[in-house]
Amino acid sequence: MCGIIGVLANERPAAPILVDALRRLEYRGYDSAGVAAVDAGRLDRRRALGKLAALADLLGQSPLPGSSGIGHTRWATHGRPSEANAHPHRSGPVCVVHNGIIENYRELKSELAREGASFESDTDTEVVATLCASMLRRGLEPEDAAAATIARLRGAYALCFLFEGAPDLLICARRGSPLVIGFGEGETYVGSDAIALGPLTDRICYLEEGDWAVVTRQGVRIHAADGARAERPVQRIAPDSIVADKGQHQHFMAKEIHEQPMVVARAFGAWTSNDRSRIASPAETIDWRSVPRLTIVACGTAHLAGHVAKIWLERIARLPVEIEIASEFRYREPPLPTGGVTLVISQSGETADTLGALRYARAAGQTTLGLVNVTTSTIAREADLALATHAGPEIGVASTKAFTAQLMGLAAFSVMVARERGAIDADGERDAIETLSRVPRLMAETIAQEDRFAALAREIATATSALFLGRGLMYPIALEGALKLKEITYIHAEGYAAGEIKHGPIALVDEATPVIALLPSGDLLEKSLSNIREVAARKGRVAVIGDAEARAELGDEAWRSVAMPRCDPLIQPFAYAVAIQLLAYHAAVARGTDVDQPRNLAKSVTVE
Ligand code: F6R
Repeated sequence: MCGIIGVLANERPAAPILVDALRRLEYRGYDSAGVAAVDAGRLDRRRALGKLAALADLLGQSPLPGSSGIGHTRWATHGRPSEANAHPHRSGPVCVVHNGIIENYRELKSELAREGASFESDTDTEVVATLCASMLRRGLEPEDAAAATIARLRGAYALCFLFEGAPDLLICARRGSPLVIGFGEGETYVGSDAIALGPLTDRICYLEEGDWAVVTRQGVRIHAADGARAERPVQRIAPDSIVADKGQHQHFMAKEIHEQPMVVARAFGAWTSNDRSRIASPAETIDWRSVPRLTIVACGTAHLAGHVAKIWLERIARLPVEIEIASEFRYREPPLPTGGVTLVISQSGETADTLGALRYARAAGQTTLGLVNVTTSTIAREADLALATHAGPEIGVASTKAFTAQLMGLAAFSVMVARERGAIDADGERDAIETLSRVPRLMAETIAQEDRFAALAREIATATSALFLGRGLMYPIALEGALKLKEITYIHAEGYAAGEIKHGPIALVDEATPVIALLPSGDLLEKSLSNIREVAARKGRVAVIGDAEARAELGDEAWRSVAMPRCDPLIQPFAYAVAIQLLAYHAAVARGTDVDQPRNLAKSVTVE
C-alpha cells in the first residue's frame, strides 16, 4: 500500500503540488506523510506522523522550496507509524519513497552495516536509500546507482528516487506495485495511480512489471526488466476516472452509497445488449458447457460478492463453483480441474493476494477472468479476460458502490453462463434481465429509508458487539454487514448463517447485543424466522430488516424493525447491501469515527 508521487515542476514550487496529490492518495494509507525537494541543488525533506494535515501544518511553519520533489503517504508495514519511519527515507544525497515490501531488506541491511552504514528507521525502504548512496560513493552516476540498486531488490515495489544536485531527475521503478508517469506542459510527474495525477494531467503511461524509468522535464526513458529500452503507450485518461470529490455529502462513503442506483444502472447498461434481450460479455467466448468448475477468488468485500455469485451461478446456471479467500488459496496448492475457469474479483485490481491467486490459476492451466473496477490495473492486464465493474473511482476505504457494481456484473455473468450452458432459454434470459433492470429503483427505494436506518444505527452505535444473521443470499450480506460495521465503527461484529447460530454463537446473545436479522420474504423465510425466534426467546435484541411479511410475523418479538421493499429473490442482495451500508455509515457518524479513513486500514492492499 502507501501512495507515492514525484514532480518535476516548471518553475513553481513542488511542495504544494505534492501535498495536493498526496491528498488524493491518502486512501492508500494515512499513518504518516512526507515530502522531499531539491532547491538550488540542495536536498531537504519534511515528514510528519499522522494524517496529511499534520504535514501541511509542518510545511506552513517550515516551507520546503524547490520545484522538483517526491512525496509519500504511508500504511505501515515495517516499523510502527512514527516520524522516523515516515518516507521519504534519506541516505546522504538520495531520498526514496516506496510502496511495497522489500523481502531481502534484512540481508541488504546486514551487508550495508558491515560496510559501516547506520540506520535511523525500522523500515525496509531506508535500506534502498542507503544502498543507492553506497553505489554513488563507488562513483556511479545517479541513474546507474539507482539501476544497480533496483537490480538488488527482491519483493514488491513502486519506487521513486530524488538526488541532491540533480533538480531535473527522478528515477522510478515498479515491480508488484503500480506506477504511472504523467506528462504536463514542461512538467513530468510520477504517481501510484492516475487519480493522484488527476488535476495535473490527463496524459499518462503505465509502467509494466519490472520497468524502471529515467524521468526528466523533457521526457522519459523507460527500460524493461532486462535493461532494454521499452516503449509504453501514452494514454488519455477519461475525466470520470480522475474526479474525486464529495459533492454535497459529508463523506465519500455517503456519496458512494447514494451514487449506487446510478452506478448499477451504468453497470447494467454495460452488461446488456442495446435491446435489453441479451447479456453481452467477453466471457461468452468461453465454452461454458464444458467447464467443470468455476473457482472464484478474492479478498474482503470482493470475496463476499463472489460468495453471492456462487449462489447465483449454482442456482441459475447449475455450474459448480468454489469460493476461496485469496490469501489462503495458493499456499494450499489446490488442484484445479482441467478445463476449469478461475474468476478473481478486485475493486483495485492490485490486491497482492488476489493477484497471486490469479497467477497461481494461470500457471495451473485455468482460463482466467478478472472482474475489476480499475480497468488499467495489473489484474486487468494479466487475466485472460478482463471484465469491468463500472463503479467509477471509489475513495471511501469501506467498499460500497464497488461491491454492488460487482454484484450487478456477477448477476449478469450468471445469467450469461446459464444461457450458454442451456440452463435457461431466451425467455428466461429476458425475464432475468427485466428483473435486473429493476435494481436501480430498488436501491433508490432502500436509500429513501435512510432516516430509519440512521435511527436504528444510533442505537447500535452504543453497543460493544453486534451479530448479523441471514440465510441463503442473505448470508454473505450478513457477513458484509458485520465487516462494514467493524471496519468503520470499531464495534465488534460477526456475521452468521442464521441456521448456524444454535451451534455455538447463540451463547453470545444477551440483552445488550443487537442481532440484525436480514429477512426478505421467500423460500427461506420460515426457516429464518425460526432461527430468529430462538434468539428473541433468549432476550436477544432482534432488529429486523425485512419486508412486510417478516415484520408482521415477528411482531412484538422484534426489538426494532425497518421496512424493506419487496422484490424478486434474485435482486434482494442489492437492497440489503444498501441497508447494511447505511446502518454502518450512520453508526460510524454517531460514534464520530473517521468514516472515510478508518484506523489501520488502506484502500489498496498491495502487500501480502
Ligand atoms: C472492505 C473492503 C476490503 C476490500 C478488500 C479487497 O470494505 O473494501 O475488504 O474489499 O481489501 O480489495 P480489492 O477489491 O481492491 O481487491
